[in-house]
Amino acid sequence: RLKPGATVRVDGQPLPTTAPTRVLAFHKPAELLTSTVGQHRVGTVYEVLLPQLTPDLARFTWHAVGRLDRGTTGLLLFTNDEKLLAHVTSPESRLPKRYVATVFSDADEEKVTPLREGMSLEGEPLRPAGVVLRDAHTVEVTVTEGRNHQVKRMLGAVGLPVRALHREGVGGLTLDVAEGTFRLLTDVEVREGLGYPPPAAGP
Ligand code: URA
Repeated sequence: RLKPGATVRVDGQPLPTTAPTRVLAFHKPAELLTSTVGQHRVGTVYEVLLPQLTPDLARFTWHAVGRLDRGTTGLLLFTNDEKLLAHVTSPESRLPKRYVATVFSDADEEKVTPLREGMSLEGEPLRPAGVVLRDAHTVEVTVTEGRNHQVKRMLGAVGLPVRALHREGVGGLTLDVAEGTFRLLTDVEVREGLGYPPPAAGP
């Protein structure tokens, strides 16, 4: 057994003591809970994700990066690096999260204007969101912060209750795996898509 902080050398060279940052892009199906602890709990995303992991990935503890509501589908990242988790979920990082909402009533430009201008929810001001009307019942909403049920509440507040919600993108990453499956992101995707690690501060 090694003491924490011990340096292990092989042929005189210290071995890295921290695990490499790994990020998984998972396509969350509806009807699964996003729990934040990596436990093999029935009905959570871990129940579907963990059995698919290869042994080299299964040895890490995985954290869901943010949360999607039970009924929401789409891109959910997992990481073994708690600093990356903090970076991606912090509003300070301003990473865009792009959602597509299917709404019950007819959407039009006038109805979605408050989302673009910056609205308040229960007295809390929100940043202006990006909104694209794909058709009368399909609204793309891009937010750079992540309040509880934010997109549903924003649309609900302007008379567009949400029937279904899907996340297409996080940062520069776009969902590209089949529902219920995942893939391991490359270091370049993590660096360029998520801005992590942040560029070193200048002198
Ligand atoms: N906004 C919501 O309302 N629900 C989600 O799952 C994610 C963002």
